[in-house]
Amino acid sequence: MRARGFRNLQLPAFEPGSHFNVIYGDNGAGKSNLLEAIHYLGALKSFRGAKTDDLITLGTDAAVLEARLEGGPVPHKLQIELSSSQRRRLVLDGKRPRSTSVWHQAVRMVLFHPGDLVLASGSADKRRAFLDRMLEQMDPIYGSSLASYEKALRSRNRLLKEDSSDRRSVRAYDAILSKAGAVVGQARRRLIDDLAPRVVRAFSEVFAGDTPLVVRYLPRVEPTEDAIAAALERAFSKDVARGFTADGPHGDDLELRLHEVGARHHGSQGQHRTIVLALKTAELDLLSERTGRVPILLLDDVSSELDRSRNRRFFEVLSQAGGQVFLTTTHPEFILLENDRVDFQVDGGRVTR
Ligand SMILES: Nc1ncnc2c1ncn2[C@@H]1O[C@H](COP(=O)(O)OP(=O)(O)OP(=O)(O)O)[C@@H](O)[C@H]1O
Ligand SMILES: [Mg+2]
Repeated sequence: MRARGFRNLQLPAFEPGSHFNVIYGDNGAGKSNLLEAIHYLGALKSFRGAKTDDLITLGTDAAVLEARLEGGPVPHKLQIELSSSQRRRLVLDGKRPRSTSVWHQAVRMVLFHPGDLVLASGSADKRRAFLDRMLEQMDPIYGSSLASYEKALRSRNRLLKEDSSDRRSVRAYDAILSKAGAVVGQARRRLIDDLAPRVVRAFSEVFAGDTPLVVRYLPRVEPTEDAIAAALERAFSKDVARGFTADGPHGDDLELRLHEVGARHHGSQGQHRTIVLALKTAELDLLSERTGRVPILLLDDVSSELDRSRNRRFFEVLSQAGGQVFLTTTHPEFILLENDRVDFQVDGGRVTR
């Protein structure tokens, strides 16, 4: 992998090991920047929500990320050029990909970073984004169904905000919302059916012991065309009064309950951490099974969040999973891994083995 002009990184050649890569260094050294660069090569966005201009090294106007991806049935060559004045340029195996979905099918990654704690403690939109990102990596048409749903929803809401909006033009969007919404909701339901038992298992076996966790799909409306169409019809006058569309898959949630109460407001901080790590472990497991390949796992500052025995069990699970892992830490001696491990030091954006 190579990076030029990305944050503070100076990465002419970075050759990671095929299993555990421990990235250590002081605060502000550039560890998370390296993980962000690797993750950008998969997700095509910053996990810290940074805009392109924030990613480009201060005082310059372009960044280039390049990587070679091995281990799958075919190797892939990835190249991304970011510029502050021009559109982003993506090149996959020497060609411009037809859509970002082609890219997401080629490069699969699972990420944990401290900001992910909002998956357990934050609002439903965070959990929907988690589900959507997984589905994008597993299902080649999911991304376009979600995009049509969201586009129609924005248009409908824009009309609802206008005072003069007439019934017929608002309701013209209902058909596409019902159709695309049913596809989106059903994909989420199937995903959660598959994911939930794995989350529960990871949570109880690896992280928490005896506290029962319940994981469920919680749709705002049943995800069928008829049910969504009926809900839109029913809520029409309320929608006009409120100025937005209330019902549909944009209100879906992934319910997480501990001891039969919502984990969001009742879970401890440590429980939130373990729930999120269980979600990520389950994601890795499911993506591996559905795609026949273990995704790259990126863990930003994960072990500072776990006690010693949970740390050890977590790494045991990851060793069994067998994929390529990148993890950052300020204390490499706290990473309880002995085998298949390569350590890299980061200092002022330079990475040395
Ligand atoms: N666009 C940019 N251009 C140049 N430097 C940048 C840019 N964005 C961030 N930096 C620098 O990157 C450094 C932060 O790097 P990073 O977040 O990777 O640290 P870290 O090693 O993960 O530290 P910590 O252990 O505190 O998490 C800061 O010194 C910051 O000034
Ligand atoms: Mg960091």
